[in-house]
Formats: sequence, structure tokens, C-alpha cells
Amino acid sequence: MSNMSLKDTLYFANDHAGVELKTALMTHALSLGYEAIDLGTNTQDSVDYPDYARIVALKLKENQNGIGILICGTGIGMSISANRHPWIRAAVCGKNLKIAKLARAHNHANVLCLGARFIETGPAKKTLETFLTTPFEGGRHENRVKKL
Ligand code: RB5
Repeated sequence: MSNMSLKDTLYFANDHAGVELKTALMTHALSLGYEAIDLGTNTQDSVDYPDYARIVALKLKENQNGIGILICGTGIGMSISANRHPWIRAAVCGKNLKIAKLARAHNHANVLCLGARFIETGPAKKTLETFLTTPFEGGRHENRVKKL
């Protein structure tokens, strides 16, 4: 798996806290030419974030070139849940684009977690774009990622 290509699929899922941000980011991703799949939830009814993290994790088991975007109130519940799956490298990123860049370049993150209650839509779009367009550097990071 190398750099994200526009042909690779994005899998979006969220709990009730993330519906609005998910919708905005999906629209943005589609406008940039990515294939984006919405795995729910799409109502304000309270749901449990581990259920949605699991749905995305299972998609990424089938499609190892895919990228997941998981949104909850803080991003933390989604990241803890997603990282229970050995093939997932989920990173919570905020508006600091350097973190989003390093999550990909050094950690080869395949899931971006966002906290809808802690990031505005504009910065979240930038974070998503940075995450998607940054390639894994490999090299000295290859062994470290293998050891995860
Ligand atoms: C839901 O209220 C909230 O707990 C959830 O979205 C998330 O922030 C958990 O990590």
C-alpha cells in the first residue's frame, strides 16, 4: 500500500455526534474525485461508536487500499475501537496539519479519526485533504509499523 490514489475508496462512519461533519466531509471528498462510501449513522439517535468503528475496520480488512474516516465527539472513542483490529492504524487528528501529515508519513495510518465537537468543518476539510494526499515514507518507519 502506498500513496492514496483517487481510485481508492474512502469509508466514512460516525456516531450521532458526527453526522453533520461526516456529511460535509463526504461531499468535499466526492467533489475532489474520491469514491466515498457512507456507512452511517445518519440520524441524531444515540448509537455506540464501537459498532461503527467495527464496520469500517471490516471494510478495510476486505480492501487494504481503502481509507477509513471515523467521527465521534472527540475522535478518541473511535480511535480506541478501531485500533483493536490488528490491521488498523487509526490516528486522531485535529486542525494541526503536521499531525495529519505525520500520521500518514511515519505511522502509515489507514484511518483518520476526527472529533466533531472539537474541530470546525473548514479545518476538518484541510485535515482530511492532508491525510489523503500524504504518502507513507517507508524507510526507517517500515520496521516500526511492522512491529505494531
Ligand atoms: C457521544 O456522546 C460521545 O461519547 C462520543 O461521540 C465520543 O466522543 C466518544 O469518544
